[in-house]
Amino acid sequence: MSEHAAGSPLTGRLVLLGVTGSIAAYKSAELCRALTGAGADVQTLLSRSASAFIGALTLETLTRRRPMTDPLELLPDQRIGHIVAADSADAILVAPATARWLGAMAAGLADDVITATCLASAAPVVVAPAMDGEMWNHPATRANVAKLREFGYTIVEPEVGPLASGQRGVGRLADTPAILAALAAVLDGKPIRRPDEAERPPVVMPLPINDLSGWRVVITAGGTAEPIDPVRYIGNRSTGKMGVAIAQAALDRGALVTLIAGMTSAPIPSGVDLIRAPSAAEMREAVLAALPGADALVMAAAVADFRPKKQSMTKIARDGSGLTLELEPTQDILAEAATVARAAAAGPRPLIVGFAAETGSLERAPEKATRKGVDLMVANDVAMEGSGFGSDTNKVTLIQPGGPTEEWPQMSKRQVADRLLDRLIGLRAAKSAELAAR
Ligand code: CTP
Repeated sequence: MSEHAAGSPLTGRLVLLGVTGSIAAYKSAELCRALTGAGADVQTLLSRSASAFIGALTLETLTRRRPMTDPLELLPDQRIGHIVAADSADAILVAPATARWLGAMAAGLADDVITATCLASAAPVVVAPAMDGEMWNHPATRANVAKLREFGYTIVEPEVGPLASGQRGVGRLADTPAILAALAAVLDGKPIRRPDEAERPPVVMPLPINDLSGWRVVITAGGTAEPIDPVRYIGNRSTGKMGVAIAQAALDRGALVTLIAGMTSAPIPSGVDLIRAPSAAEMREAVLAALPGADALVMAAAVADFRPKKQSMTKIARDGSGLTLELEPTQDILAEAATVARAAAAGPRPLIVGFAAETGSLERAPEKATRKGVDLMVANDVAMEGSGFGSDTNKVTLIQPGGPTEEWPQMSKRQVADRLLDRLIGLRAAKSAELAAR
């Protein structure tokens, strides 16, 4: 995961890789590695003869998804596999594409899972043919390629080089960087179609990563409730989904997780050490108690900035006139935690991450990051669709004080969580190297 290229146009995309029966099918394993290395999610589609050249288990291991081989195949939940793939794909890449497949596609024959998926999908299609030189130059192939271009498909032309037949000529599958560049070009500027993993073909093998083993991570989630009287409070719209996604991702990657939850509606992952802290004051106490010895604090909670100065011990009755509440500022937990963490800085100190909830523009976020003394600030526009409270996706900008600002594409909250944890691992390694060099 840490190898994901930051800001790659493939990050967070679902790419369907169609493999047909050419000897170059063995190169599909390398393509899977390159695609996942660039941050893409990959679902492979195999023609019947492709299975003779490349093992399904190889592709399943590399992509964590079972290859689809039959248009009639149903997923475990009874959805039609290739339709789910067609509807959720950001792009379809057919590599290698044989002369037979080019003909089938040009004629719209949905007799294999790849043509069926292309016909059923609005996603852009990139085709990288591979075949014998004479076949590539045959008028039938030329006509089929021209037809595919008419469909709007991008053709990554084969290259000249030694062929499987022992001859030299045009027909070798284009090299991986050229194929990836063509994919990046068709995806440029397009939003991710289905960032939510549940809407994509299912993952059958979770990544066996334990890269946070030995870490203790403290995460806050949800909004706070600042009491007015025993029944009323001042709150906000945070549901806790982002903080819970980080907690789940950290757990899955082997960390010990303390989850300090304010007002949340997101289900709490089993396996966390859960501390309920509904108000800003309670959250502050819980964070300061959990901080010593932690490797990271991630403040994803939406903490109230103001609370009623006085809390009525009994329910305030309606008396016909209005009600004026006097508010006082709450303490800034994040800023205080950052100060505490830095004061104890003999060895490795906890990394401090804040979330800046903004509306309209993120221009205040870098100043907020510096003012609060965080290592990383994750800024998002909570008023934007697909990015705010309650949403399953988020579009964030990562700010590292003194470092570059990175805009991440819209992703599921789980993907944001994993990328953020990747960054924390990188940051910890950099800080340890710095300490060792002193
Ligand atoms: N935060 C905190 N304590 C508070 C208020 C906020 O620890 N009393 C934390 C949040 O958990 C978040 C970060 O500070 O990680 C930024 O929160 P945000 O509400 O965006 O910033 P504010 O400091 O409240 O600034 P403003 O209200 O001006 O946007």
